[in-house]
Amino acid sequence: MPDYPSRAERIMQRIHELAVISEEADGVTRTFGTPAFLQGRALVQGWCEAAGLSTRLDGIGNLRARLVSANPLAKTFVLASHIDTVVNAGKFDGPLGVLMGLDLLEQLLAKQAPLPFHVELIAFSDEEGVRFHTTYLGSTVVAGSFDHGWLTREDAGGISLARALETMEADTTRLADDAIPANDWLGYFEMHIEQGPVLWEREIPVALVTAIAGQMRVELTFTGMAGHAGTVPMNMRQDALCAAAEFVLITEQFALSHGQGLVATVGKLSLRQSASNVIPGEVTCSLDLRSPDAAQLAEAYAVLQAYIEALATQRHVALAWNLVQQTAPAACDPGLNETLAEAIADAGHEVVALVSGAGHDAVPISAVAPVTMMFIRCYKGISHNPLENVEPADLAAAIEVADRFLARLAVVIARRNDEAILPLSATNPEM
Ligand code: GLV
Ligand code: MN
Ligand code: MN
Repeated sequence: MPDYPSRAERIMQRIHELAVISEEADGVTRTFGTPAFLQGRALVQGWCEAAGLSTRLDGIGNLRARLVSANPLAKTFVLASHIDTVVNAGKFDGPLGVLMGLDLLEQLLAKQAPLPFHVELIAFSDEEGVRFHTTYLGSTVVAGSFDHGWLTREDAGGISLARALETMEADTTRLADDAIPANDWLGYFEMHIEQGPVLWEREIPVALVTAIAGQMRVELTFTGMAGHAGTVPMNMRQDALCAAAEFVLITEQFALSHGQGLVATVGKLSLRQSASNVIPGEVTCSLDLRSPDAAQLAEAYAVLQAYIEALATQRHVALAWNLVQQTAPAACDPGLNETLAEAIADAGHEVVALVSGAGHDAVPISAVAPVTMMFIRCYKGISHNPLENVEPADLAAAIEVADRFLARLAVVIARRNDEAILPLSATNPEM
């Protein structure tokens, strides 16, 4: 019988070990390309190689390990998530999926069973987009949709993405070759914490994901007139921070008035040359707008932009509105989702289907391959926060579902290829 609790414990140990590697002594911060990121990636690479997998680093810094099938009809099935983090992150967002994927590959290696498809594990280098303000850098390369224009983007210290990749000794001339060719894809499976409260409240360990919200990110700058806090009369001011404050509240009210679906967040606000006795002259803000409904997202974006332009005019401040990122909502594949739903039910759990408000690497991949995702319950739904946590029992339950999913997938693919049912199904004798 498979020992799911021991496998969960080993994954948990690795998650904790990886989380120690951080840009800051306090908490987990491992943004793309930093020394902490490189050290974390090397640790995961070492675990892959110790397991007997050969690995490579691609041109955007993704870590890739592949189990090759001898089947001449074999295509590639990818297990993946990311190893970069937000600032002051939790330990599980990203690494959980990578290290569960490594555990699955270790099981396949141990069985030495013929594989009906190639299995590739990918630890994506940048999903969060913290450093260069564009998410999915790693997965767009694998999907073949990387925009070379992003190479000139600069981080807060003025270092371009191209320069950061050079420092990482990544070969950007190979980026196109790092994509998995369209006809080589079988599918994609990402395991991830839910990052929301539904599973916690319903006391269910896992869920399947039907769709992932689209998102638009904007950088806005309000420019007014810096001036003396004691001498400029209140009715003669062009206070950029007051405009920004109104923007924050209009944005909140706007999203609230939409009810379900739309969410909007202003997560960053920075004042240029601020001082307590100076009227703020320039404020730069972020806006993150999301919805699983493409039409709702596009309409909300246009209406909100018009509101904010009117607000700027009324307050006599200039507004620079710069759309820095846009990703369409993505749907998971009904066929893969059916197989995952069966695996969840086989393992004895209620099948809950969720739409993800968080972005995932599955989004760019969904443009070129069928994708599915499994969510794992996290403590009170808390994420992007050091309190992020997963119970070992839930992790064990998720590993069992993942095993059953791969076993069922092997059967589906073997049937599709009209082959004898291949031994991946031995992963789960009860299937
Ligand atoms: C990534 O975690 C995002 O959804 O912002
Ligand atoms: Mn995240
Ligand atoms: Mn994530």
